[in-house]
This record gives sequence, C-alpha cells and structure tokens, in this order.
Amino acid sequence: MKPPVRVAVTGAAGQIGYSLLFRIASGAMLGSDQPVILQLLEITPALKALNGVVMELNDCAFPLLAGVVTSDDPKVAFKDADYALLVGALPRKAGMERSDLLNANGGIFKPQGEALSEVASRNVKVLVVGNPANTNAFIALSNAPKLKPTQFHAMVRLDHNRAISQLAEKTGKPVTAIKKMTIWGNHSVTQFPDLYHAEVDGKNAYDLVNDHTWYENVYLPTVAKRGAAIIEARGLSSAASAANAAIDHMRSWALGTPEGDWTSMAFVSDGSYGVPEGLVYGFPVTVKNGQVEIVKGLEINAFSRAKMDATAKELDEERQAVKQLGLV
Ligand code: NAI
Repeated sequence: MKPPVRVAVTGAAGQIGYSLLFRIASGAMLGSDQPVILQLLEITPALKALNGVVMELNDCAFPLLAGVVTSDDPKVAFKDADYALLVGALPRKAGMERSDLLNANGGIFKPQGEALSEVASRNVKVLVVGNPANTNAFIALSNAPKLKPTQFHAMVRLDHNRAISQLAEKTGKPVTAIKKMTIWGNHSVTQFPDLYHAEVDGKNAYDLVNDHTWYENVYLPTVAKRGAAIIEARGLSSAASAANAAIDHMRSWALGTPEGDWTSMAFVSDGSYGVPEGLVYGFPVTVKNGQVEIVKGLEINAFSRAKMDATAKELDEERQAVKQLGLV
C-alpha cells in the first residue's frame, strides 16, 4: 500500500462537502490503492456540525481513510496538503452587488492563498470550487508567492459533464460515446461549451447535430444555466453533481486523461488561443504524469471567437474589480 496523501477540503460541513468527503475516503478520487488523510477546514460556528460528519466518516470504516483532522485555522488544515479542494465560499445573496460578493470572497481566498503558500506541500494541487470559482482562484494564486500560479485550478468540470450529458440526450448516444468536449472560459453564464471539436462515436458533434439554431438557442443556454434550473427545482444548489465533478477534476489531474480524449480545466492563461495572459480561464487539456497541457492547434471560427472573447471580457472585468478592491 502507498503512504497516505493529505487532502484538505474547505467548507467541509456544507452541502458539497457532505457528498465529497465520503467519495474521497472511498478511493474514488485518487484510486483504490491510495490512502488519504482528510484535513477539513470550517468556520468556527460550523465545527460542531463538522464533528458530526467526521463521526459518520468513522462509521464507514473506510480502509483507505488513514486519519481526519478538523480545524478553523487554514494553517492547520493546509499543513503539508498534497491536494486542496476549496469549496467553502460565500454565496451571492439577494440584493448583493458583485463587488460585495468579490469582497466577501476575497476575505476567504486571500488568507487561504497565503496559508497554502506557507504550509502546503510544495507540489500541492489546488482546486477552487467555491464561486465565483475562476476569480476566487485568481485571488488565491495571487496571494501565494511561494507556489506556482499553475498549481491553482478553478472547476469547470461540472459544466463539462453537463455539456456531455445534454449532447448524449440530443444524439441518443451513451455519454461514453462523447469525447473531446471543451468548456472555454468562466464558470458562469458566459462560458462557451464547444461542439465544433467534440466527437460522438468519432464523428464531429456539430456536424452530426446539424442544427445551429438548437446549438445557439437551446444547448448553450441549457448547459450554462443548468445551475439555476437545479436551484429552481431542488430549492438548493447542485451539490452531489458538483462534488462528483470535483472528484473527476482531481482524478484527471492526479491520474491523467485517457488516450484520444481531453477534459476541461480552468487555470492561468499563458496567452494560448488569444486569451489574455493571467486570466483563470477554462481550456481543453490533456494530463500525463501530472503535467497539464493545453490542447494545441484547434481551429477557432468566428462564432467561437466571439463567445471566447465575451467570457474573457467578463473575467477581465472581475480581475479589474478585485485589483481595485486591493485583494490581489
Ligand atoms: P454550503 O453553504 O452548503 O457550504 C459552504 C460551507 O463553507 C459552509 O459549511 C460554510 O460554513 C463554509 N465556509 C464558509 N466560509 C468558510 C471559510 N472561510 N473557511 C472554511 N469554510 C467556510 O455551500 P455548498 O452548496 O457546499 O457550495 C459551496 C460553494 O460551491 C458555493 O460557493 C457554490 O456556489 C459553489 N459551487 C460551485 C460549483 C462549480 O461548478 N464550480 C457548482 C456548485 C456549487
């Protein structure tokens, strides 16, 4: 058996945490031969509830769970962490301006970036799930001078999985027939799910569907606004599917993407595909031996270009706003 790795999870007593922790402890994220020590961060008032979750984790008697640490101090929860899933965030409440939301989350992700920089493993892989995920990742990486910016990702995998599921439904094919899906840009309604390079049973997805009106007016908004549709139906935001996507993202990052396929991850742009450098932007990527590479050489048509620029513009505005607030 391998030595255990340390997996930090913030917001561990929340909805997503409740779906996430048990699957990490079962081996779904890092494999059935990889023991884990969970290091769980919560705000002080939620520590009692977190303790109940830990009781349940213990009651599962997971063979791979080598220990559990709980704390309200990021420097304790992130100590020597090999993986960190930053889930805890402040959701937007009615009447809240975007600057209020960014400011409140800056109060969370600035100190967490600083703490990761100080105490986490030098090779830590950080995934930001808490919204606004891309800009929270930008705040965290900007406050982590001792880590590489590329060690911070934001999650667009839920959008990626939603895009696959909607395409499978439209084409009547199983999800396993769909490859090379891409979510470009922000985890927000401006995201661009790209069918021009996706494949269904090896055939080009856009050509197979052959219905631009459906693509533009049904598919794109259905994927981009799925989160709101789930809140409307469930009265609560997506949790199990978000936890599942976080598991998928970390598994791809740690264990790689399959031959002949790619996935979507958001991280600092190096200027690829004309995306302004430094924005935390969703790209198509392959992963081998922990190395994340942007898929090169895809042709971008005028429709895609406009969508990719619009989501970059939104991220750039968020970047300007957090700069003005002094968060980076
Ligand atoms: P929740 O409100 O049930 O749980 C959040 C937890 O974070 C709470 O237990 C809270 O006490 C904790 N928390 C707040 N501030 C914290 C801090 N400074 N340190 C540690 N913990 C802290 O929310 P839920 O449903 O679990 O969602 C969490 C976040 O994930 C939200 O921001 C939500 O918008 C986001 N999300 C992102 C998705 C994505 O695709 N990127 C999909 C679904 C949700």
